[in-house]
Amino acid sequence: MCGIVAYVGPKDAAPILLEGLQRLEYRGYDSAGVAVVAAKALKIRKVKGRVADLAAAVPARFKGTLGIGHTRWATHGVPSDINAHPHPSSDERIAIVHNGIIENADALRQRLEADGVTFVSETDSEVLSHLIARTAKETESLEEAVRRALKLVVGTYGIAVIDAERPGEVVVARNGSPIVLGIGEKEMFAASDVAALVRYTRQVVHLEDGELAVLRADGFSTFTSDARETAKEPFTVDWDTGHYDTGGYEHYLLKEISEQPDTVGRTLRGRIDDRFHIAHLGGLNMDARESRSFRRVKIIGCGSAYYSGQIGAQLIEELARIPADAEPASEFRYRSPVVEADTLYIAISQSGETYDTLAAVQELKRKGGRVLGIVNTVGSAIARECDGGVYLHAGPEVSVASTKAFTSTSAAFALLALHLGRVRDLSPADGRRICDGLRRLPEQIKEMLTQEEHIRELAMRYAKDAAGMMFVGRVRGYPVAREGAQKLKEISYVHAEAYPASELKHGPLALIGPEMPTVAIVPDDELLDKNLTTLGEIRARSGRILMVGHRTADQADDCIVVPKNETELDPILLTIPLQLFAYHAAVALGRDVDKPRNLAKSVTVE
Ligand code: AGP
Repeated sequence: MCGIVAYVGPKDAAPILLEGLQRLEYRGYDSAGVAVVAAKALKIRKVKGRVADLAAAVPARFKGTLGIGHTRWATHGVPSDINAHPHPSSDERIAIVHNGIIENADALRQRLEADGVTFVSETDSEVLSHLIARTAKETESLEEAVRRALKLVVGTYGIAVIDAERPGEVVVARNGSPIVLGIGEKEMFAASDVAALVRYTRQVVHLEDGELAVLRADGFSTFTSDARETAKEPFTVDWDTGHYDTGGYEHYLLKEISEQPDTVGRTLRGRIDDRFHIAHLGGLNMDARESRSFRRVKIIGCGSAYYSGQIGAQLIEELARIPADAEPASEFRYRSPVVEADTLYIAISQSGETYDTLAAVQELKRKGGRVLGIVNTVGSAIARECDGGVYLHAGPEVSVASTKAFTSTSAAFALLALHLGRVRDLSPADGRRICDGLRRLPEQIKEMLTQEEHIRELAMRYAKDAAGMMFVGRVRGYPVAREGAQKLKEISYVHAEAYPASELKHGPLALIGPEMPTVAIVPDDELLDKNLTTLGEIRARSGRILMVGHRTADQADDCIVVPKNETELDPILLTIPLQLFAYHAAVALGRDVDKPRNLAKSVTVE
């Protein structure tokens, strides 16, 4: 949730740390801080607010060539200057930044307080600086002090630690919260996300859970929790700083919505085979026989990833005729799921770091389940944990609200469904139909985006003053409605509910009235007449209706007409206007579109 950055090398650390924090701000943004070491003394600045507030508070003479920084999304204790990281030890020798949750923080705090330590913050993280300071007095190296302190800790962490007495090294460690090392020219970096590193280096190394690393200007060493050295192979990330700029758009969100013709194109590139009308997905690590052997598919993910999983389940059932369903990963892992050998499990994640999804994958693996990942971030924890999968190649998604990852995931599911279908009973003719439809998607998304002005005007009329909005859809349209409601509520804070259209009269119809408009997803499919009947029922209760579909209809007050593709692929295109609708509603309401309140981009805590 929070962002970590660390530097050791010949340059001034503070500007590098601040630049890195700016790039990480999308991960957490209620407070921020930096610490550097100079002349064997710690200097710390931390403030409640944004990284820009921190930058303003850092004096010009904040010199030091080694340092750590943090941008916070509060879990323990309110956002405040004191609760912001870095946390120093009482003797001001050690400073730490921490992502994750220390579950036994209260017990550790009591023990330390009984030993005379005075705590200044309300955070769980502060125990780490005091524990490490205590062990540092008894150990030869900072690395050993950190290792011993972490043995006392129960919970998750990504940490970076500096010691004023050892001004040449930073120690980082990971357990459940990402840490990636960046290898520079006679300098080393670490961060919770490659976004903070790509300006300086594209050579990176991911730490595994339980690993610890010592960074010095001339290199790094990595170790297991029991001090055995590990060998790590650096790899080159293909994302650069351009991916992290707004590219002239007012918000990252609009940039990412507008990128979708390209990003969906990249997900599909090189994966459609016109000879046999199949999909090439080499990363699945499964031959045709194995692909045929599954009798069920279970998809897990959180939030929008889960809704794209619902689109995926529908695609797999329709094209491959394998029973498939999606479930929130956060629920799945707590209900002691029955894991079957003939079920294919698929985990979805843009970041590849969502803790609930990662923990669900680990639980599945522990029980012998076969898990594929549909993941955007190459080398991320979920990608590494899975047996194989499909990378989205959508480029980094910076805005907290997911858009391009959603459509790319849905396109990846279409490829997977085509693959699973064509090793079973999907005919070559239907395979060709889907291949052709997939190829049309980027152009049709582009066409859809030309309606932005019309959608902006509708967002002003419908969402700006609404008490709440209802989103309805049937079967293929239902996950689209859920994603539309999710987008609207998370960035505009307008209350939005999504319901299967078929369920309206079993309860939620009572909410319908002039103050509760409905967005109805009405594709031209076999359910069109039923959907139009539902619109009639809403109309009869004085409900205003914005219909999103492939035609206009008298039952609706307004319509957004979306380019028609193959019925199975239509949900991907039907999603685009809902993204624009939410975006313009949020802008009209003056919201912080890219960093909505109370949220963070990657939820790396439970
Ligand atoms: C989407 O708009 C949300 N911000 C959120 O639901 C997100 O999709 C979810 O947290 C999962 O993230 P992931 O794809 O990185 O795992």
